[in-house]
Amino acid sequence: MLIDGFGRTVDYLRVSVTERCNFRCQYCMPEKPFSWVPKENLLSYEDLFKFIKVSIDEGIKKVRITGGEPLLREGLDIFIKMVFDYKNDIDLALTTNGFLLAKAAQKLKDAGLKRINISLDSLDSSTVAKMAQKDVLSNVLEGIKAADEVGLKIKINCVPLKGINDKDIIEVLEFCRAKGYVVRFIEFMENHHAKDGVKGLNSDELKAIISKKYPNFKMIPRDTSSPAQYYEFEDGYQFGIIEPHKDDFCAACNRIRLTSEGYLIPCLYFEDAMSIKDAVQNNRIDEAVEILKKVLQNKPEKNKWSTTGDNETSSRAFYQTGG
Ligand code: GTP
Ligand code: 5AD
Ligand code: SF4
Repeated sequence: MLIDGFGRTVDYLRVSVTERCNFRCQYCMPEKPFSWVPKENLLSYEDLFKFIKVSIDEGIKKVRITGGEPLLREGLDIFIKMVFDYKNDIDLALTTNGFLLAKAAQKLKDAGLKRINISLDSLDSSTVAKMAQKDVLSNVLEGIKAADEVGLKIKINCVPLKGINDKDIIEVLEFCRAKGYVVRFIEFMENHHAKDGVKGLNSDELKAIISKKYPNFKMIPRDTSSPAQYYEFEDGYQFGIIEPHKDDFCAACNRIRLTSEGYLIPCLYFEDAMSIKDAVQNNRIDEAVEILKKVLQNKPEKNKWSTTGDNETSSRAFYQTGG
């Protein structure tokens, strides 16, 4: 079992396979100019897998593949199959923007993927184009449909921004309710890479918008290891709100992150990271485990934003940490 310095059991590993992305979401990436970490700095799938294997041996039970946009990296289904074949009862999930999903869904399902979280900020194509800084909605909707058809369990992530897609919250909610997908609205997390002037809606503002149309939703008891607080409509449909500006879920945080360059990151808001790259590339697996345990000792008690206030920004980019 992996236990951190505050006695929390860590059993969830998020693995970013690339920082590259085909979108430029206003809340995440600068529009341009942009230079990526050179491809040769990336850990190969084999090396990422060496670390995943040993993490599973040490107690990881849930592996989520993230990016950037993970479907931009070739052979992702083969990588997923490597993990699935090693331990098929792992909760194996992917977070994607959905653009390349229509073609990939069947292969991903066949490889052993169980769940998929897809970003959908609006159902209005010009709003989506404004947010992602690219005309993407029809591809994303095709991707969602394909994932559904092959039987992947779907969650939708939506980041409401003031004056941009805050008008579309009810429509996104109703789309997800009709399709039976859980939607989580995420408060914008301030960071140095987002477009200047971007402002997110907070949880109270979101709830006010939703309760204008649906006054009777109730808060349901919290699964503390989930970043989302869930709410339920009278018909039983549940949606979530992720409030990073609170630290509700930090006390039960169960996750660590591995970047595509091999840095292990103990918390989304934490600047310190340690690299496992050299250890895995040279097959010093015991050393990788030692680094993992050191990083767990470094895991902070709470995220930085909740302790320092709303305007604290993170210098680490979400497209590098994988959200
Ligand atoms: P499930 O496994 O379906 O619960 O997904 P998840 O919420 O772990 O994964 P997803 O990639 O969909 O994450 C959604 C978003 O939740 C992230 O991009 C972040 O915005 C937020 N989030 C996830 N983990 C953390 C965390 O440790 N701290 C904070 N503050 N936010 C997080
Ligand atoms: N604030 C909140 N959510 C973000 N995401 C990416 N950047 C941010 C941010 N700055 C979300 C995306 C995606 C998920 C992995 O993270 O919408 O759904
Ligand atoms: Fe790409 Fe995701 Fe960042 Fe959007 S939020 S630019 S889809 S990495």
